[in-house]
Amino acid sequence: YVIGIDLGTSAVKVLLVNQNGEVCTEISKSYPLIQEKSGYSEQSPEEWVEKTTEALSELVNQLDGEVNNIEGISFSGQMHGLVLLDRHNDVLRPAILWNDTRTTKQCREIYETIDREKLLSITKNPALEGFTLPKLLWIKKHERETFAHAAIFMLPKDYLRYRMTGQIVSEYSDAAGTLLLNVSEKEWSQELCAQFGIDPAICPPLIESHDYVGTITTSFANETGLSPSTKVFTGGADNACGAIGSGILSEGKTLCSIGTSGVILSYEDNKDCDFDGKVHYFNHGVKDAFYTMGVTLAAGYSLSWFKELFNENETFADLLDEVEKVPIGANGLIFTPYLVGERTPYADSVIRASFIGMDASHTKKDFVRATMEGITFSLHESIDIFRESGKTIETIVSIGGGAKNEAWLQMQADIFDAKIVKLESEQGPGMGAAMLAAYGCGWFESLEACADVWIRPVKTYEPIKENVATYKELFSVYKQVYTQTKSLNE
Ligand code: XUL
Repeated sequence: YVIGIDLGTSAVKVLLVNQNGEVCTEISKSYPLIQEKSGYSEQSPEEWVEKTTEALSELVNQLDGEVNNIEGISFSGQMHGLVLLDRHNDVLRPAILWNDTRTTKQCREIYETIDREKLLSITKNPALEGFTLPKLLWIKKHERETFAHAAIFMLPKDYLRYRMTGQIVSEYSDAAGTLLLNVSEKEWSQELCAQFGIDPAICPPLIESHDYVGTITTSFANETGLSPSTKVFTGGADNACGAIGSGILSEGKTLCSIGTSGVILSYEDNKDCDFDGKVHYFNHGVKDAFYTMGVTLAAGYSLSWFKELFNENETFADLLDEVEKVPIGANGLIFTPYLVGERTPYADSVIRASFIGMDASHTKKDFVRATMEGITFSLHESIDIFRESGKTIETIVSIGGGAKNEAWLQMQADIFDAKIVKLESEQGPGMGAAMLAAYGCGWFESLEACADVWIRPVKTYEPIKENVATYKELFSVYKQVYTQTKSLNE
């Protein structure tokens, strides 16, 4: 067996996977977001470690003595989060997460220090609130003492791995989301560190996602019941792992992943394309490859927000049940999913969400359908950017919560005007992590060879012509909502 650990935003999920790529056990433990002020989003790194330890001990207990058959572990992690350690490797403050938007001012200051073109030539990405450098600059300004004590910064899954192995390392797919990495050269940018007054010594050493890091420590083995000889491999950013776990391993392959955030991701061989920062451009978890990606900040989060607000005890399956009976366009109701601002295509942390066109006759199901359509429209904006840049997108693999519901899969086919492929397992990131461990253990010659055996498509949803046409019209109305409501939030 191998284990894939997916350290997400709302929960950590551990998957036990056998040599055929079958998920034998899955255990998930959730943890809260700490949201002290509007726009703040933090988590306690200690809680990640505790919940992962709990999940792994439960998994070991269910294994009935087969624990020595677990050969390797690897990781997928929520991106961009800032964990700061002092010189004793103790955590200095709660982690500031990817969906925290307190750093608008720091993003502006970045452009006062360096021009946009120059920044893009190094990092391939613009300054966005979620990225790590603006968070570091926020700490430097507002928590001077903490900044002065910072000896190393880490990304979430790298911290978790450190606690399991005692080794401090990071890798390119997560480093790419810090805005401090020279993405095509695969090295920390000394120039950016110097420009922003960041000691390059606080950047962790970088290795590849499938590289061997070491075995787990004896104390972690004792706490979980895992064998102390269990090998640990680096792992990758959740989106890179989602791509690996869905077989997005060659040019022309595209992924739609709807979790807390939603992404449209496309494989990229070339380290020198120019998307002018309109979409993210990151290192893949596959050696020397890249991917481009558009992000909807509140994708699944919009639906869970709606569920929590109106009936927190309901399951997602119940919430979405019979949504296909509501006609396309949700009887005139339109939702824009900007609950926490938006990334692609607007990079606007201030805009807020709307329901437009509410009618006294609308039912809760109309609201649910409108929410799903709004999330999917937002993702479609990323697909438009890819298509406009010359990429051909005819088939899209769909994973995450958005792939659990038939009506939503058909909606994706109709809105994206593309074939949607559903896989046997919609566990992209956790599966990608398990694949990195399997490849690291030498079970396969390459990640592609592993994908050939492990990733099994089960169904394809074809776009229905008349639905495509109806959605096209609705999409042009949807796009106007941003322009028309922008001034309300300024
Ligand atoms: C990507 C991003 C999110 C997080 C979610 O840039 O911010 O997709 O990776 O964990």
